[in-house]
Amino acid sequence: MHRVGYHRTPLARTYDVPLMARVLSGIQPSGDLHLGNYLGAIVNWVSDQDEHDAFYCVVDLHALTLDIDPADLRARTHDTAIDLLAAGLDPERCTLFVQSHVVQHTQMAWLLECTATMGELQRMTQFKDKSGGRESVRAGLFTYPVLMAADIVLYDAERVPVGDDQRQHLELARDVTIRFNNRFGDTLVVPEAAIPKAGARVMDLQHPERKMSKSVNSPLGTVLVLDDPVEITRKIKKAVTDTDGEVRYDRDKKPGLANLLELLAVATGRTPTEVADGYERYGDLKADTAEALVELLRPLQARRAELAADPGAVAALLARGAEKATGVASATYDRAAEAVGLLRPA
Ligand code: TYM
Repeated sequence: MHRVGYHRTPLARTYDVPLMARVLSGIQPSGDLHLGNYLGAIVNWVSDQDEHDAFYCVVDLHALTLDIDPADLRARTHDTAIDLLAAGLDPERCTLFVQSHVVQHTQMAWLLECTATMGELQRMTQFKDKSGGRESVRAGLFTYPVLMAADIVLYDAERVPVGDDQRQHLELARDVTIRFNNRFGDTLVVPEAAIPKAGARVMDLQHPERKMSKSVNSPLGTVLVLDDPVEITRKIKKAVTDTDGEVRYDRDKKPGLANLLELLAVATGRTPTEVADGYERYGDLKADTAEALVELLRPLQARRAELAADPGAVAALLARGAEKATGVASATYDRAAEAVGLLRPA
């Protein structure tokens, strides 16, 4: 499907990297998809399908760093894949797969663990947040960003569409890849984060100082992509704002209102400041934001119901995705294993 040949990265002259730049991104199946996932990442995954050779994975191995019930993990992995298809990923235009179906992810992670340092992993703010105050911290939580780097480099991905909270992990992935190449020769493609201008940091509606998150229990503060119109409207109406009553965009001084303005802005293709100009009352802004979000999510919700009716088709599609992903990942892993000096099987 994709032309193979000369490409702007020097590596591609040696290895067959497609002319279309590769994209890879992943999502944990650790909870229901929310507006932050959707606007910060998934809408861009959908648009990247046309201009890039795109690989997207449900990162079930990463979810093992959390407390998650085995039956739940299995079900959520499948459900997350359905959500992504409903959001607009098209298996004819991208490769969608489950991380654990491609064994090279953990193999590559080991090679990169032997390249990353304890110091740089200790500086990861997500690790500090998730491990803080705990008596016992899993080793997997510590090495989490290295597995993420492995996910990316296995596909020679140049571009990684993510929300702002993944910025530091992407920096680490770049540093580790550059170090690997310096030590073993030009072997891996150095990735870059693609963070959207709008929607990269959707905040919790009840606690606008912190991001909307799957792992924090804040039902009223989190709009799920599968929430029905009544739920969405209720949550937006109850969103925390402030008492000065003036509609203007100021992230520092008016974080709750700024979040609503940003949501309405991304949903309608405007800037938050433009949106703010049209309102005098918080109530009107909330009503329009709720309506815009209901309309934004309506097609996804309709498609999801259709897809869920045929679980066998989704499983088959994930199997095809894994097969295609394995083809790319195994070639990269072999190249990396060779570079570090592992004796390859005859
Ligand atoms: P995860 O599963 O937490 O989130 C999936 C994507 O959603 C984005 N996101 C947000 N964007 C805007 N506002 C928010 N409130 C918000 N919350 C989440 C995330 O930035 C992410 O893009 N470590 C990753 C998963 C991962 C990955 C990878 C990503 C594993 N391997 C390789 C890219 C490439 C994570 O936990 O995302």
